[in-house]
Amino acid sequence: MTNQRIDRAVSAEFVTSAARFVDMPSSQLPEVAVVGRSNVGKSSLINALVNRRNLARTSRTPGKTQTVNFYLIDQSFYLVDLPGLGYAKVSRSQREAWGRLIRGYVRQRAALRLVVHLVDSRHELTDLDLEVASIVRENDRRYLVLLTKTDKLNQKQRAASSRRIKETLGSYGLEIPVIETSAVKKRGIDETWDWIEALLRTEGDG
Ligand code: GTP
Ligand code: MG
Repeated sequence: MTNQRIDRAVSAEFVTSAARFVDMPSSQLPEVAVVGRSNVGKSSLINALVNRRNLARTSRTPGKTQTVNFYLIDQSFYLVDLPGLGYAKVSRSQREAWGRLIRGYVRQRAALRLVVHLVDSRHELTDLDLEVASIVRENDRRYLVLLTKTDKLNQKQRAASSRRIKETLGSYGLEIPVIETSAVKKRGIDETWDWIEALLRTEGDG
């Protein structure tokens, strides 16, 4: 896969941060949630999607995003940046609170239309990733998996990584798109937009 067109004009603005379910906005706009392990590259990918360097705060240190952050895109839907799952360096009770927040959001949030699950292209799916997949499946959410940081792999390794992760998800009954991305190289950004737009257009109760 080559680098793609990155000139898609997107308007994006930070709207609010929520530390609790009740603090989330009550607007009727659809939401596209970005989930994944701590440090997997969620905030970086959001920045790449909206073509802004620093809309979502990123960090070399895991645990940067500690609240649920809502970004309004093109006045038409929210991209939602969630805290990383499984971040080890906070207290157990804080980690569990985030876990509950994220699970509750995926299970109950009426506006949620699409779960974009980020997985590090260099690693196997972890137990936390498999838990995300199973919550998504149980709740019949629309689902897209993005492999992150593929600039760290060569073409052969990328293909192997996609295949491996597709197989694992397939064995859980999830036949879903898996897109190779890199926030650094802006790889897979256009393809991700195409899927987000297509999945947001589809009617249904997902
Ligand atoms: P938390 O908010 O802590 O859960 O992390 P996050 O998932 O939002 O990750 P973030 O975007 O903050 O990125 C974590 C680290 O990975 C940073 O050092 C980024 O620069 C790096 N990173 C993110 N995306 C890429 C990528 O596509 N390629 C490479 N090489 N590094 C990346
Ligand atoms: Mg983050």
